Amino acid sequence: MNPRPGLPRAIAFENAENNSVNGSDNGTMGDVIAERLSRRDLAKGILAVTAMTATAAPLALLASDRARSQGSSATPSFNFAEVESGVDDKHYVAEGYDADVLIRWGDPVLPGAPPFDPHKLTRDGQAKQFGYNNDYLGYFPMPDAPNPSEHGLLCVNHEYTNEELMFPGLGRQDARRGSTTPFSKMTRDIAEIEMMAHGGSVLEVKKIAGKWAIVAESKYARRITAETEMRISGPAAGHSRMKTSADPAGGRVLGMLNNCAGGRTPWGTWLTCEENINGYFTGELVAGHPEARNHKRVGVPSRWYNWGDYFDRFDVSKEPNEANRFGWVVEIDPFDSTSLPVKRTALGRFKREGAAGILNKDGRYVIYSGDDQRFEYVYKFVTEGRFDPTNREANMRLLDAGVCYVAKYNADGTGDWLPLIYGQGPLTEANGFHSQADIVIEARTAADLLGATKMDRPEDIEANPRTNKVYVMLTNNPARKAEQVDAANPRAENRFGHIIEMIPEGDDHAATKFRWEILVKCGDPSIASVGATFNPNTSKHGWFGMPDNCAVDSTGRLWISTDGNYPKRTGRSDGLWAMETDGPARATSKLFFRCPHGAEMCGPEFTPDDTTLFLAVQHPGETDESDPSAEPASFENPVTRWPDFKEGVPPRPSIVVITRKAGGKIAV
Ligand code: FEO
Ligand code: CA
Ligand code: CA
Ligand code: CA
Repeated sequence: MNPRPGLPRAIAFENAENNSVNGSDNGTMGDVIAERLSRRDLAKGILAVTAMTATAAPLALLASDRARSQGSSATPSFNFAEVESGVDDKHYVAEGYDADVLIRWGDPVLPGAPPFDPHKLTRDGQAKQFGYNNDYLGYFPMPDAPNPSEHGLLCVNHEYTNEELMFPGLGRQDARRGSTTPFSKMTRDIAEIEMMAHGGSVLEVKKIAGKWAIVAESKYARRITAETEMRISGPAAGHSRMKTSADPAGGRVLGMLNNCAGGRTPWGTWLTCEENINGYFTGELVAGHPEARNHKRVGVPSRWYNWGDYFDRFDVSKEPNEANRFGWVVEIDPFDSTSLPVKRTALGRFKREGAAGILNKDGRYVIYSGDDQRFEYVYKFVTEGRFDPTNREANMRLLDAGVCYVAKYNADGTGDWLPLIYGQGPLTEANGFHSQADIVIEARTAADLLGATKMDRPEDIEANPRTNKVYVMLTNNPARKAEQVDAANPRAENRFGHIIEMIPEGDDHAATKFRWEILVKCGDPSIASVGATFNPNTSKHGWFGMPDNCAVDSTGRLWISTDGNYPKRTGRSDGLWAMETDGPARATSKLFFRCPHGAEMCGPEFTPDDTTLFLAVQHPGETDESDPSAEPASFENPVTRWPDFKEGVPPRPSIVVITRKAGGKIAV
């Protein structure tokens, strides 16, 4: 039950060697949108917009994506004075910029939220307050804003909770640190607060008198929690394997869990991805359990939380199918706070990191995703239908039909996208699949059979709409043995990760062929045995390990945030680095923002005009538990009390908003 002893929850979550096994023997928006749609379509879209009143206006979204992809044909370089790498309890941004805290765990989101008091947390209060461990950030311009980059909705994922930092007197409660009395201090009340601190938030944000603020009493404000009702759609909806005692029709589920990264669609919806869902399930896979093969493949149950002690649905002995209702992409309309979130099963079920997409030249929408665990796979989903800027209602159904593919990276620098389609190749009754529902529920097993390439923990993946190149963050994989290296995962004991660049055949993201090369192998370039390949122009502050999230700004420049840089690993905190991708400077990186101690860097999200950058500082104060000299962090003894720095107040995951003091675009 202690699969990753000695690793902090964030790392264990995301390494997630845990107790799932890949037992297969496989080889180891904008101008661009405008260019891709006919003038007639756009004119129709604009006409339609004039007739629209309420919800997200395609014009604003097109305009925002247009701004996001404008620029000259050559990718410009970054212009800012680099931050010094290092570790302390504060955050740092490049000189000439402000980095202000916008909202913290416990701050009010909904009317009636109580003021934050870490000694008086309640379930109902937390359900109205900002959740814990902010991860993905998606900015949606308000349709009627005079300046779409100064007024919008910010959608936030709340990935998980750190009980040792949230609650006084608790310490770590799960068994992974060798506790002989796991969860002995847990109560149902604490579990329910944790459940309310998961999920997501929708915030209306506006720049007023030069400073960003949360709009109070906004009609868009929303908290999504582990109990928010959601609809299930796509091939698995209504299937017998999705049915539970609370939902005999298999079409409704309460909540979303471990929402890590995500995406933003051109039709103005937020895609939020369920990653390490295994940790929320408890109980036993007794002999003959109907989901034994499936649950083992994703590590269910892992009992990182003991919610199953209070709620039967999280106990696989009592509800064998509940875990099948988690691990999906959830689509949410942030412009309608009463809308039901929808779990889109056509995209497949695994520990999905993110769902960043790109509008293909033929109008189909293509979503790239990593399955973040050691030796797991890279996927994409290609919609069957085409984006129609005049018909938002139709766009809202696009993610229910299409083809999910998994990537095979060949040694010669080519690659193949292998389709996960029931009845094709090995995906038949002979291997336990009886329908497309079985394929999407057990996407990992289907991908095993197809011969996908086992990767070094695929995290965020982003396509650059200016070049059509696709960047894959592979965070690390210390478990890869020398005999398991391959061309796309070339380092044994890959402790620091690498980034792959993929080039779709014919600039067609729906194509089944691609080329690929490694952009950079990460780690300290001054240590030859590490084998890092940063451009020699990279300074001693500019290299990093453990790439995790990424963003492409409106001029096509790549920004990378990291998860897992601790003093004993890389001598630096996590942060946001700018990475050159073209020409002689390719693979040069520079540190723009540095996190406080123990925090992972998430977000990053630009406004369409690049004048504002939103960042998420996740789990500040968490200990590097692979460092035996580090004292375990706790509510009473955190390594930082960022951002409040008040005695008795624990560190608080927060969103930071970055603007240039002199005004203007970031890093130009
Ligand atoms: Fe939740 Fe893979 O990061
Ligand atoms: Ca994370
Ligand atoms: Ca991540
Ligand atoms: Ca990570």
